[in-house]
Amino acid sequence: MRTVTTVAALRAALDAERAAGRRIGLVPTMGALHDGHLSLIARAGQECDVVVASLFVNPTQFNDAADLDAYPRTVLQDARSAAAAGVDILFTPAAEEVYPHGFATQVVPGGVAERLEGAHRGRGHFIGVATVVVKLIGMAGPDVAYFGQKDAQQVAVIRRVVTDLNLRVAIAVCPTVRDADGLALSSRNARLSATDREAALSLSRALELTRDAVRDGEDDPVAATAAGRAAVAASGARLEYLELVGPDDLEPVPRIAGPVLAVIAAYVGTVRLIDNVLIDPAPGSRESILATATLGRC
Ligand code: PAJ
Repeated sequence: MRTVTTVAALRAALDAERAAGRRIGLVPTMGALHDGHLSLIARAGQECDVVVASLFVNPTQFNDAADLDAYPRTVLQDARSAAAAGVDILFTPAAEEVYPHGFATQVVPGGVAERLEGAHRGRGHFIGVATVVVKLIGMAGPDVAYFGQKDAQQVAVIRRVVTDLNLRVAIAVCPTVRDADGLALSSRNARLSATDREAALSLSRALELTRDAVRDGEDDPVAATAAGRAAVAASGARLEYLELVGPDDLEPVPRIAGPVLAVIAAYVGTVRLIDNVLIDPAPGSRESILATATLGRC
């Protein structure tokens, strides 16, 4: 694995690969790599000849300065995990490389970016995400860029931006990887105390309760999410939203009549966590969402 820190070095490394007709996969990350990130890297390795992972804690997508300060930074360990997972080129730019003096352009996504995370974290969050992802695609020129279903709205926003701006890149989405107890892996989990972790489990539990209610035939979104809300409240976590939305447009559904996405955000202490699960109301097995943990490998 080669580590590069400048756009020029990244392009120099990739131009030859592209000229040789090799397929390039890009995995954008903010580091503090865990098995969720590594599943994206593994899939990129299966589908592409060259795997580029970026490691950049993008300041412009943080709405909360304390969250940016507290974001875990584990670069040396990340480089080891990235190499072991099959990354060929690790791109670790400094902030000035990504946002040099005079930088003055933003990608402002509308539509699907405006609700849920966009409403709670503020519009700047997805402006920051969309801008840096478009820049990373411009820097690396990948054939495919890999993202996690864990951030379902981020995927919907990026798909919208890629379509609207006619970017020549395919977007691949990998399932959410969870710990054995159901907690979706997140770099922010490192900031949870043992007690916080118990409360954090209420997010995946709330999604399971919602899934059970829908599978039992409840077709009213408010009623279907009631037990989940109660579970979060009982845990001591502070719920921001638990909603049933369309899987593609993330618009609230008035009645559940087909597959829906249950999305949740809650604060556990000072740590804000999100999770989601796709629910098919068709009566069938009542398997736990933990089942997706093992299926979760890309
Ligand atoms: P980050 O939170 O580091 O996540 C990088 C990628 O890993 C994202 O596509 C995210 O959805 C995916 N991911 C995170 N946790 C996962 C899990 N438990 N299972 C599967 N995939 C998971 O998302 C970002 O960084 C940034 O917004 C970024 C796209 C890099 C732009 O700055």
